[in-house]
Amino acid sequence: MSFDIVNAGEADLPGILAIYNDAVQHTTAIWNETLVDLANRRAWLVERTAAGFPVLVAHDAAGEVVGYASYGTWRTIEGFRQTVEHSVYVRADQRGQGLGPALMQALIERARAANLHVMVAAIESENTASIRLHQRLGFITTGQMPQVGRKFGRWLDLTFMQLILGAKE
Ligand SMILES: CC(C)(COP(=O)(O)OP(=O)(O)OC[C@H]1O[C@@H](n2cnc3c(N)ncnc32)[C@H](O)[C@@H]1OP(=O)(O)O)[C@@H](O)C(=O)NCCC(=O)NCCS
Repeated sequence: MSFDIVNAGEADLPGILAIYNDAVQHTTAIWNETLVDLANRRAWLVERTAAGFPVLVAHDAAGEVVGYASYGTWRTIEGFRQTVEHSVYVRADQRGQGLGPALMQALIERARAANLHVMVAAIESENTASIRLHQRLGFITTGQMPQVGRKFGRWLDLTFMQLILGAKE
């Protein structure tokens, strides 16, 4: 499949919304249980963009949103300013074709260009597709937190992974 990775704009919001709500309804990739509306995703895009953070979308040949990735503040205390936490989502019918890795490579390039030092991923511990994707990109596991979340009637464990990008100061 051919696809382009570009900065997200207003026209991408319905596609982002559909992928997000599908993950809320059907996966433990995100631990929310409440579906959101277009205004919620617009506010998120505006907030990320205003803060100087990237929101990248992958478009297929028809211009449809088939995935997105972004990062934002990890912790608000000043000393954490060069560390970000990211997320990456691929539309359910487009997984397994390398879109996730391509989005992540593009996001890592943006983070390096922004002189960030560390990227953090917080991943549900049974999400092996995501854990393997991050391992292949050089992320290492730095934390395991048993039973810190709950969804679909069961406790969820959280795995923290991180990539040191190398900004010196
Ligand atoms: C995790 C995710 C981003 C990976 O993106 P991707 O584009 O599918 O990545 P890849 O093409 O490298 O495939 C990942 C794995 O899924 C496997 N896969 C193949 N077909 C698949 C399908 N139809 N559905 C799901 N996974 C499939 C691939 O073989 C690969 O397995 P491997 O790690 O053993 O090689 C994507 O699965 C996704 O969006 N999942 C739901 C949201 C999520 O978990 N996000 C990460 C939160 S931390």
